[in-house]
Amino acid sequence: MYIALINVHGLVRSNNIEMGRDADTGGQTRYVVDLVKELSSREDVEVDLFTRLIKDSRVSEDYRKSIEQIGEHARIVRLTCGGTKYLRKELLWPYLDEYVDNLISFFRTQKRTPDIIHAHYADAGYVATELAAYFQIPLVFTGHSMGRNKLEYLQSQGVSEDKLNQYYHIYTRIEQEERTIRHASLVITSTNYEKNVLYKPYESQDLSKMKVIPPGLDLDTFFPYYHYEIQDPSITEEMKLAQYSMVKELQRFLTNVDKPFILALCRPEARKNIDLLIDVYGKSKELQAIANLVIVAGIRDDITKMEEGEKQVLTDMLLLMDRYDLYGKMAIPKHHNPQRDVPEIYRLAAMKRGIFVSTAALENFGLTFIEASAVGLPFVGTDKGGVRDIYENCESGILVDISNRKAIEEILYTLLTDTEQWQKLSENGVQHIRQVYNWKAHVDTYLSHLKTVLNNKKKQPALATRMGSIEHLLVCDIDNTLTGDRAAADELAKVLEAHHDRVGFAIATGRSFESAQEVLKHYSFPTPDILITAVGSEIHYGSKDVPDKGWTHYIRRRWKPDVIREVLSAFPELEMQNEEGTQRRYKISYTIKEGSEIPSLMERIRTALSEARSMQHLVLSHDTYLDILPYRASKGDAIHYIAWKWGIEASRVLTAGDSGNDRDMFSNPLRSIIVANHEESLNTIRKSKRVFFATKDSAAGVLEGLRHFKVIET
Ligand code: GLC
Ligand code: MG
Repeated sequence: MYIALINVHGLVRSNNIEMGRDADTGGQTRYVVDLVKELSSREDVEVDLFTRLIKDSRVSEDYRKSIEQIGEHARIVRLTCGGTKYLRKELLWPYLDEYVDNLISFFRTQKRTPDIIHAHYADAGYVATELAAYFQIPLVFTGHSMGRNKLEYLQSQGVSEDKLNQYYHIYTRIEQEERTIRHASLVITSTNYEKNVLYKPYESQDLSKMKVIPPGLDLDTFFPYYHYEIQDPSITEEMKLAQYSMVKELQRFLTNVDKPFILALCRPEARKNIDLLIDVYGKSKELQAIANLVIVAGIRDDITKMEEGEKQVLTDMLLLMDRYDLYGKMAIPKHHNPQRDVPEIYRLAAMKRGIFVSTAALENFGLTFIEASAVGLPFVGTDKGGVRDIYENCESGILVDISNRKAIEEILYTLLTDTEQWQKLSENGVQHIRQVYNWKAHVDTYLSHLKTVLNNKKKQPALATRMGSIEHLLVCDIDNTLTGDRAAADELAKVLEAHHDRVGFAIATGRSFESAQEVLKHYSFPTPDILITAVGSEIHYGSKDVPDKGWTHYIRRRWKPDVIREVLSAFPELEMQNEEGTQRRYKISYTIKEGSEIPSLMERIRTALSEARSMQHLVLSHDTYLDILPYRASKGDAIHYIAWKWGIEASRVLTAGDSGNDRDMFSNPLRSIIVANHEESLNTIRKSKRVFFATKDSAAGVLEGLRHFKVIET
C-alpha cells in the first residue's frame, strides 16, 4: 500500500520539530511526522509525506531539501507552492492549484500514484480532493481543527468580518472543509469530542465514515518521572543536563525552588487563558504558601518585537505578576529547547509532586495533558473537549469548570496536599497512557481502516490512467471542423468510438463550456476526455466536468480585464459580443464591424493596449471576431499545458481546425490537420510538414488527416 500524506503548511522535518515556533508548527506537525515514522516501520507500506518546499533565510535549511528519506519506506517530499518564502497557512489558498499540479507532475515522473491520500487540515483537503478526482484515489481526511469552530470563537472575540475574510480566509476554509468531508471515504479524529461536536455543524458530516483513533505519543521520550528516582540507566547525560539547566533557570525566579510547582505549558495565545491562572494563584495566599507557579509559554527574546497577539499575552503576564507581587513565587522562563526540555520540565514537576494545569476553556485534543500524564504528572483542566476524552481513557487528572475560579483554586489545593490522590492519578497516567496512546495501536487501527476503504473502492476509470494509456490525443475545433457535414461527422464519430481505447478525444473551441456541450449533444461523438473552451481560457475534463484549476491559476497572471475593456471602449469599430456565455472571466470578445480596415485596426488596438501597460493575447478569427485572453492563454497553450500535466508527448497529439482562433494549435511540435474549408489567413503555414492540409471539408477532412498521420489504418 502506497500512502500519500499531505500536510502543506508549517515547518515539517523528521527531527527536532520546531514545536510552537509559530502557530502553524505544532501538534498537527508532530502528529503527521510521528505517523510517518511509525508507518515506515511497517513491512507492507510505503509512505510519502508531502509538504511545502521553503527556501527562506528566516528558517532552517532543512526545509529546502526536496526529498528527506525517513527509513527505507518513507520520505518527506517538498514541492513548491506560492514561491519559496515561508508563508503563514492562511496565505496559501491562492497557490494550492499550483501545488496540485506539482504533485501530479511528481507522481507522473516517479511513474507511481498513491493508493490512498490522507489530507491534513483544510488546505491539504483541497489539494487532495483535486487529486482524488483526477486519479480516482480514495481520500482520507483529518481536519485537526475546524473552521466553523474557529469562526465561532473569533466572532465571540469580536473579530471583524473584514479580518475574518482577509486575514483568516475563514469562509474559504470552511467551504473547502465541507467539500473535503463530502468527498472523503474516511474522516479520522483523535477524540469523540471532535467527531461529535466539531464536525457537527458541517452539512456534509456523515458519522458513518468517521472514526476516532487516539494518536500515539513518543513513549520513549515521555518516560515516567520516577526513572530518575530509581536511577534508570537509560537516562542520558543530556537529559540530566537539561533538567539541571531548567532548575538553574527556575532559580533565577524562585526563592524556594524545592517547593512543588503548578506548571502551565502552552503557546502564548489569548485562548489559553494564562491570565486566569495567574489571577487564581495571585489571589490565593493558601496556594502561594504551598506551591510555586511556573509558566512556560514559548520562547522569547524581546517581547516588543513579537507578534501582536503574543506580545499582548506576555505583557499581561508580566503585569499580573507585578500586580500580585509574585516575585520569588512565579517563574516565567525565557528560553527552553522544546524537543529536549519539555519532557524534563514535566518530570521535574512530577518529582516535586506538582500539577500540570491548563485553564484554556477548550482544547480540541490536549496533547500536553497526555504528555504530562505519561510521565506521571497529574493534570487539572477543562471539563470540555478533548481533555474529557483523556480523562475518560486514563483518569489521570481532575476536570474543572473553568468559569469557576473558586473550584480551580480548591482542586489545585486539594491535589497539592492529598498525597494519596496525587499518587493514584500519577500511576493511572503512566499506565493508561501507555495502553491507549501508543503509536503501534494507532497505526494498527489506522491501517485496518485504510484497508477497508481500499476494499470498498468503486472501480472507476481515472482520468490520469486514461491519459497514460492512450496512444494519440486528437484535439478538434468544433465549428466548421467537426460540424458542417452531418454524414462525415457521423462517420468520424464511429471511427473515434471504435478506436476509443487508443485515441483520446478532446475539443478546443471558442464557445463556452455550456454551449460546446449543447452542440455536441446533437452529434454522436464520444464524450470528450477534455474540453478546452472559451478559446483556450478554460479546461474541463470528461463527463464529470472537472475544471482544471491549475490552468486557471497559470493563466491569470497580469490579467487586467477592466483596463482592456476601458481601452477598447474607445474603438467604434468594436462591438462587445452579447450572446450568452461569450464574455468569460478570462475572455473578452468583440465583433468587428463590417468594412473595417483590419490590419490598421489591429495595429491601433495593440498600441493602445500596450500604452495602457496591459499584457494580453489577441485572437482574430474570420476578420470578424476578436477575442482577448490572458497573455498565457490560447487553445494551443492549453494543449501544451495538458500535454505537460499528463505526460503526453507532443508527438502523440494531433490537432484539427479551420480558423484564426485555431492557429495556435498548429504550432511546433504538434501535428495538425487543417480542413479544406479553412479560413484564408491559415495559408501562411502551408509549408510545414507537421501540418496536413486536407482536400476535404470539415469532419471528412479530419478523417482524411487521421489516415494521413496513420492514427487509423483505413
Ligand atoms: C465562438 C465564440 C466567440 C468567439 C469566436 C471566435 O464563436 O462564441 O465568443 O469570438 O468563437 O473565437
Ligand atoms: Mg472553427
